[in-house]
Amino acid sequence: VFDSEKVTVIYVLGGPGAGKGTQCSKLVGAYSFCHLSAGDLLREEQNREGSQYGELIRTCIREGTIVPMEVTVKLLENAMSAEIEARTGDGWSNGRGRFLIDGFPRKMDQALKFDEEVCLASMVIFFTTTEEVMLHRLLERGKTSGREDDNVESIRKRFRTYEEQTMPVIRHYSSHGKVVEIDSTASVEQVYREASAAVSKFLRVPLA
Ligand code: AP5
Repeated sequence: VFDSEKVTVIYVLGGPGAGKGTQCSKLVGAYSFCHLSAGDLLREEQNREGSQYGELIRTCIREGTIVPMEVTVKLLENAMSAEIEARTGDGWSNGRGRFLIDGFPRKMDQALKFDEEVCLASMVIFFTTTEEVMLHRLLERGKTSGREDDNVESIRKRFRTYEEQTMPVIRHYSSHGKVVEIDSTASVEQVYREASAAVSKFLRVPLA
C-alpha cells in the first residue's frame, strides 16, 4: 500500500517494560516521526463503542497473548493512512512519512504480512534488559497506570509470549542486518543518547 521509497518505517521492539514507549516519545519530536504503538491502538479499539473486536482484544491483553494479525495490521494501516493524509510539513507531503512502530511485529505472520502488503520496514531498534528490571518497572508503573496487564501473573505470561513468538521476529530481521540492539538497563537519558545516535546515523541527519 505504501511506497517504501517515500515512507520510512522503523520497528521498535523489546520485552514488556524494556522502555519502547518511553524512548519513542522522546524520538518522535526530535526526528518528526509519527509514533504508533500497537498496544495503544489495540486499547483504543477495545474501548471504542461498538467495536466487534473489543472482547477479543481485552482477553488477549489480560492473558498476555497476541491479538490476531488481521486486527493489528488493519489498525496500523488505517492509522498510517490517516496520518499521511493529515500531516504536512517537516518532510511529510506527497505520500511521504516517517513512522516509529512500537510493539509490532510481535509474531512472524505479522512481520511477513506487513512487509509484503503494507510497507517494508527499514530498521528495527531492539531494546534489551533483564526480566528482573522489566518486572520491577512494570510493577511500579502498574501502581498508577491502571493497565489491566501490569500484574505479576499477566507480566509472566507476556514474558513467555515475547520469548516464544517475538524473539523469532528479531532473529529474522537480524539475519537481514536490520537490527540495532540497545541495552535499555541504564537511565532514560542514557538510553536515549544511544537510540538517537542510531536513528541519526540511519536517517543521515544530525543528532537531535
Ligand atoms: P504493549 O502495550 O505493547 O505492552 P508491552 O510490549 O508489554 O510493553 P509496555 O508498553 O508494557 O512497555 P514498554 O517497553 O513500552 O515500556 P515503557 O516505556 O512503558 O502490549 C500490550 C498487549 O497488547 C500485549 O501483551 C498483546 O496482548 C497486545 N499487543 C500489543 N501489540 C500487539 C501486536 N503487535 N499484535 C498483537 N497483539 C499485540 O516503560 C515501562 C516503565 O518503565 C515505565 O513506567 C517507564 O517510565 C519506566 N522506564 C522506561 N525506561 C526506563 C529506564 N531506562 N529507566 C527506568 N525506568 C524506565
